[in-house]
Amino acid sequence: MAFDARSFLKTLRAEVATHPSVNHPVLTAIGEGSCTREDFKRFGLQHFALVGMFTQYMERLLINAPNATAKLWLAKVLVDEYGEGSDGDDHTTLYRHFLTRTGVAPDQENHVPLHDDVVDFIRTHLELCSHHHFLVGLGALGPAHEWAIPDMFAPLIKGLRRAGFKEEEILYFPLHVEQDQDHADWLEEALASMISSWEEAELVREGTMLSLAARGRVWDAVGSVLGEEALVPADAPKGYAQHLHRPIKQGLLSRLSDFLAGDTAYRLPQARDLANRIPIRKQDLGRNGARITRFTDKARPAERAPSSYRPLQAR
Ligand SMILES: [Fe+2]
Ligand SMILES: [Fe+2]
Repeated sequence: MAFDARSFLKTLRAEVATHPSVNHPVLTAIGEGSCTREDFKRFGLQHFALVGMFTQYMERLLINAPNATAKLWLAKVLVDEYGEGSDGDDHTTLYRHFLTRTGVAPDQENHVPLHDDVVDFIRTHLELCSHHHFLVGLGALGPAHEWAIPDMFAPLIKGLRRAGFKEEEILYFPLHVEQDQDHADWLEEALASMISSWEEAELVREGTMLSLAARGRVWDAVGSVLGEEALVPADAPKGYAQHLHRPIKQGLLSRLSDFLAGDTAYRLPQARDLANRIPIRKQDLGRNGARITRFTDKARPAERAPSSYRPLQAR
C-alpha cells in the first residue's frame, strides 16, 4: 500500500485521543471529584517540574532538526512558549502565578521532593529529543504533547473551577487548550513535510507512545500525592472511598514513606540539572554509547542510580 502521510497522521490523532494516558482515571476523577486548593497545590508542585522543562525539549529538537522547514514550525511553537501569545509572560511564569494562588510560598517549589516518575518523565524527554531519531522526538512533542494537552487539560479545568479558582488564577490551563490547537497543527505540518515511508511513520509513533507511557505514570504519581478525599466524586455514596483505585492507596503508602525522603530525593534544581548532564546531540555519545561528559568531576553533580529514588509525597 502506498504511504500517505496525512492518512497516517489522521489515524495517529485518533490513537492519541483514545490513549489511556490521555483519558487517565486520575484526570477524570479530578474533573468529577472534590479537589481542594491544597490538592491542586500538591498537584502543581509536581506538574510544575514538567512545565518548566518543555522549552528545553523543544530547543533540543530545534537544534537537531534536519532542515529549515522543520525548524520553522518548531520555532513558531517556541515563540509562543516564550510568551508571544500571553502578554510576554512565558508559560513557566504563568504556571508559577497559578502555584502562588494555590498557596505555594516563594521558593517552596525548589524544596519539594519530586516523585520518581516525574523525574523519569523529564529524563525520558531530554533523551527522546537528543539521542533518538529526530522523528521520535517530534512524535513525543507533537502528537504526545500538543495534540494531547487540550484533551488532558479539559478535566483539570473542570476540577479547578469546582475547587473555586477564578479564571485569572488559572490562565495557564485554558491558554493551553487554545494555543495547543495551533501548536498541534503546526507540528502536524512539520510531520507531514518529513515523513514519506512507513519506517519514518513508525519512528513518529514510537516517540508518541514512549511519551504517553511516561505521561500515564506521571498522572499515577499525581494521584498518589493528592489528599485521600480528592478523587472521590462529589455525589459519591458513603463508603465509596473504600473501593477507590490504586493511586489513592498508593497515596497512603507514599505518605508513610515520607520520612524516608531524606537527601536522596530529586527536587526541582536537580531535575533541571538533568539538562546539563544529558548531551544535546546524539554525536556526543561515544562509539560504545557511553556519554562524553564535558564537565569536570568537581562540577558534575553526583550520579545517582534510578533505584535510589523513592516515590515521595509532595508537601
Ligand atoms: Fe506551554
Ligand atoms: Fe503548546
